[in-house]
Amino acid sequence: MPEFKLTRYRIRTEGAGRSPAQPFSAVLLSDMHNDSYGNANSRLLQAIRSEKPEAVFVTGDMLTATLEPQRDSALALMDQLTKEYPVYYVNGNHESKEKKRTADSADARESYSEAIRGYGVHLLENSCVRTEIRRMPVTIWGLELPLDYYQRFRRMPLGAEQVAEFLGVPDEGRYNILLAHQPLYFDAYARWGADLTLSGHLHGGLVRLPYLGGVVSPQFSLFPRYDRGLYTKYGRKLVVSAGLGGHSVLIRVNNPPELVVLDFT
Ligand SMILES: [Fe+2]
Repeated sequence: MPEFKLTRYRIRTEGAGRSPAQPFSAVLLSDMHNDSYGNANSRLLQAIRSEKPEAVFVTGDMLTATLEPQRDSALALMDQLTKEYPVYYVNGNHESKEKKRTADSADARESYSEAIRGYGVHLLENSCVRTEIRRMPVTIWGLELPLDYYQRFRRMPLGAEQVAEFLGVPDEGRYNILLAHQPLYFDAYARWGADLTLSGHLHGGLVRLPYLGGVVSPQFSLFPRYDRGLYTKYGRKLVVSAGLGGHSVLIRVNNPPELVVLDFT
């Protein structure tokens, strides 16, 4: 895996009573697939610390769910991060698969979800937490879509009403941040009322071409629309991380792994 780079986005919150008293930063980790940068992720942790983030957002696929699940580095990273920062986490398709596997297993201690909860991770499985960051009232939501929404060659429809069925309605007068691994449904997230959606899943489209962007999604659709970057629709924002790792197809062309830093003003 090549070394990661740092990608920075400025997020203007622009709402009466919903803006921070002072600017602050947060980091977004996604799609690490149990990789490690340095011994026990020392290089990644150092990069995070130098940003002095108020929060760590995680948008899933931090482990790889295979017959022999790979999750030791992911567990160690969550253990360390929760000692230093509030960590808000939504599952990706790999965690959902792993959850299914451990639900069927006799040994409940095997559960990845329980382990990271035990460290203090706010694991948002179609739920939310309300908090304040620099006096800005923030609600952080986690949308965990069923695995049907990740099928290959087939796109399940999803509208704002279904998002509301999973989550309820967003909070008025608060800044609503939605963690959603699958960025494909940005339209529904924006219509539902997410001021800012954070996503991953596409690994930047694996191979990136100048002007055209990412070439292929994990569902094998070509030139996926939201593969990495900052997008705006109906005045609401989406940030898609290109991710920090990979699995199965370990190709990344013109598409380095990235640590995303969000500068809120
Ligand atoms: Fe994924």
